[in-house]
Amino acid sequence: MATLLTKAEDRAAVTAHAARLQHVSKSFATPAGRQLVLDDISLDVAPGEFVTLLGASGCGKSTLLNLVAGLDAPSAGAIETPGGRPALMFQEHALFPWLTAGKNIELALRLRGVERAARRPEAERLLELVRLGGAYGKRVHELSGGMRQRVALARALAQDSELLLMDEPFAALDAITRDVLHDELTRIWRETNVSVLFVTHNVREAVRLAQRVVLLSSRPGRVAREWTVDIEQPRRIEDAAVAELSVEITEELRGEIRRHGRH
Ligand SMILES: Nc1ncnc2c1ncn2[C@@H]1O[C@H](COP(=O)(O)OP(=O)(O)OP(=O)(O)O)[C@@H](O)[C@H]1O
Ligand SMILES: [Mg+2]
Repeated sequence: MATLLTKAEDRAAVTAHAARLQHVSKSFATPAGRQLVLDDISLDVAPGEFVTLLGASGCGKSTLLNLVAGLDAPSAGAIETPGGRPALMFQEHALFPWLTAGKNIELALRLRGVERAARRPEAERLLELVRLGGAYGKRVHELSGGMRQRVALARALAQDSELLLMDEPFAALDAITRDVLHDELTRIWRETNVSVLFVTHNVREAVRLAQRVVLLSSRPGRVAREWTVDIEQPRRIEDAAVAELSVEITEELRGEIRRHGRH
């Protein structure tokens, strides 16, 4: 086994899309009756595509990601992830504090069925990929917030899923660390060509990262508009083209928030 990560071309040959949502709705029972959170969402993520899902707080982004992850079922509509179970990365790193960085990753490899002897070298390779070579034996409390998110990313990549779901994974980090991790994520995405569905309420972050930005409305969440981001990678968050498109999208997002009240 030369590499445990599949190449983009192989993936593209297998499936036409990494995720397909067709007319997906989700409502929750609340004391005030059923609350419709997501309404008739249809969305495809192509193999190797990087899509950001942008919307105001409470519009249903995490709910949508949980549905794609298979953690919850839609009330109506259908979700397909033909490449198998997606990997999921949250705002909180969710690493096991009693395990080292390396062992956290090895656990994901074990769950994937990687044989024991191959786990350590693969964990070390993944740590190298997120530029944490040498952190194998470090415990979680010895790592900075940015380093923890790198380990969490390595662990998500250890699942070797065709689709990586990310729920505001850098929101708790300072601006400079976030900037570095944007660069790293872009590099890793290009190297592995995993498909990414990345949730954020930060417009600049959405534009910095994505090939396509999908804006969700609030109450209920619907696809309000989408933009293809035709700006060459690697980008910088302060690039003029990134700023320009961000202004346009922010205007639209403000309109959505005004239409749907209190935030
Ligand atoms: N299990 C649940 N039961 C009832 N209501 C829920 C449940 N999960 C989410 N909701 C409601 O659905 C709406 C959307 O929540 P969600 O967490 O998906 O928003 P979000 O877009 O991720 O927000 P944020 O940007 O703040 O993370 C909220 O009104 C929330 O209260
Ligand atoms: Mg959320």
